[in-house]
Amino acid sequence: MSELIEARVPDLGSDSGIPVIELLVQPGDRIKKDQGLLTLESDKATMEVPSPVEGEVVEVLVKLGDALSQGDRVAIIRVAEVIAEQTAVQAPAAPVDIAEPVSPSPAPATVLAPAPSALPTPVMKSPTHALDNAELVPGKVPYASPAVRVFARELGVDLNQVTGSERGGRITKEDVQRFVKSALSGGAATAATGTGGLVLIPWPQVDFSKFGPVVSEPLSRIKKLSGANLARNWAMIPHVTQFDEADITEMEAFRKKLGDEHKDVVKITPLVFLIKASVAALKKFPAFNASLDGESLVLKQYFHIGIAVDTPDGLVVPVIRDADRKGLLELSHELAAISAKARDKKLTGNDMQGGCFTISSLGGIGGTAFTPIINAPEVAILGVSKAQTKPVWNGKEFTPKLMLPLSLSYDHRVIDGAAAARFTTYMAQVLADLRRLLV
Ligand code: COA
Repeated sequence: MSELIEARVPDLGSDSGIPVIELLVQPGDRIKKDQGLLTLESDKATMEVPSPVEGEVVEVLVKLGDALSQGDRVAIIRVAEVIAEQTAVQAPAAPVDIAEPVSPSPAPATVLAPAPSALPTPVMKSPTHALDNAELVPGKVPYASPAVRVFARELGVDLNQVTGSERGGRITKEDVQRFVKSALSGGAATAATGTGGLVLIPWPQVDFSKFGPVVSEPLSRIKKLSGANLARNWAMIPHVTQFDEADITEMEAFRKKLGDEHKDVVKITPLVFLIKASVAALKKFPAFNASLDGESLVLKQYFHIGIAVDTPDGLVVPVIRDADRKGLLELSHELAAISAKARDKKLTGNDMQGGCFTISSLGGIGGTAFTPIINAPEVAILGVSKAQTKPVWNGKEFTPKLMLPLSLSYDHRVIDGAAAARFTTYMAQVLADLRRLLV
């Protein structure tokens, strides 16, 4: 006899369509009753969808970025007593027969609606599985409340590394605080011995209202998430920024011509030319199209370019896939589509994954240069500022040229300064003479 049940999203009050920001379990994980299966986060709150029973996760039915509402199915779980029972009678490893009657679910109806007849076929093939009680204590899945998860995420703490002090290994806020304190004192000790480590003094606590009127506004979800990533990347990656300028006088004339020809169809901005030039440079200098993996460098054979998009809620980086196989018009259409999707808050986790190299363009706004922060695990990012007409010496006289400022930040563990200078020099050559894209 077997009991497989579906975990569903509980009552969310008036909220619906809330995005999944974290998957806390995967198939095969043993979980306790009320342990979080995934985290949902709206602008107002972060909440976990709990497991209605103790048992084993058979299937996770949602992915990051999915928007969920009350009653949506999130996972299929094999109930623990059933597993134990099967073990006790030494049941052979036979397929679970869901055609058998299913005992009523022990979980609250608001959380779980057992619907065995609706279970997908793969579940029927799950072999029986020996499991003892000790295994049911959460192991690799950190066991903590949503508030503690948010707290840990804001501090950049990986909950997998924190030991929970409560029953069943549940992690409390105090456990996270203890972990941070111990990490900081460990860091201090290491620094004192001259072997490195990040030593930070406490964040200044200031009552700003003592100095004048203030208003406090909560950070948006995107700001909190991107802030944590930016802080980690800035602190952990040795950044250097290489500055250069590209003469885009001819490119701009061509862009305007192309833009006029397609003005009723799509807007063509300098950014698509930068995507093409970046791909050419990534092909010529493969170390820039790489990621560090321990002591190895993973060199990517594909060219997916992330584009930093400014939205009212903060910065997001959707990815244009296979940019090497797309022309300027197709890239322009895709750029317009992902920018609109980003600003309409419709990007999914998948839209933002798999990037090789990011371009952050502030050219439409202004500025002469900036130092973009690398989007880990990538190893370089290109910042683009506003093109300006400047007098350029041609050996005989000054001529007016439209110059585009480039700011390339790179991970100095992977790329050295000479390679970065070659990369931007080559990009500038390509942008100055687009025929080089054909070479
Ligand atoms: N120099 C001069 N003008 C430029 C330019 C540049 N480098 N880049 C763009 N422009 C012009 C465009 O041609 C367009 O002109 P037009 O309206 O006269 O046709 C105008 O600036 C606006 O362009 P924009 O709408 O910004 O399009 P884009 O393709 O350049 O950029 C996005 C699209 C989505 C990247 C952009 O809107 C955006 O969000 N940028 C901000 C990224 C960011 O915040 N980065 C910071 C990370 S630290």
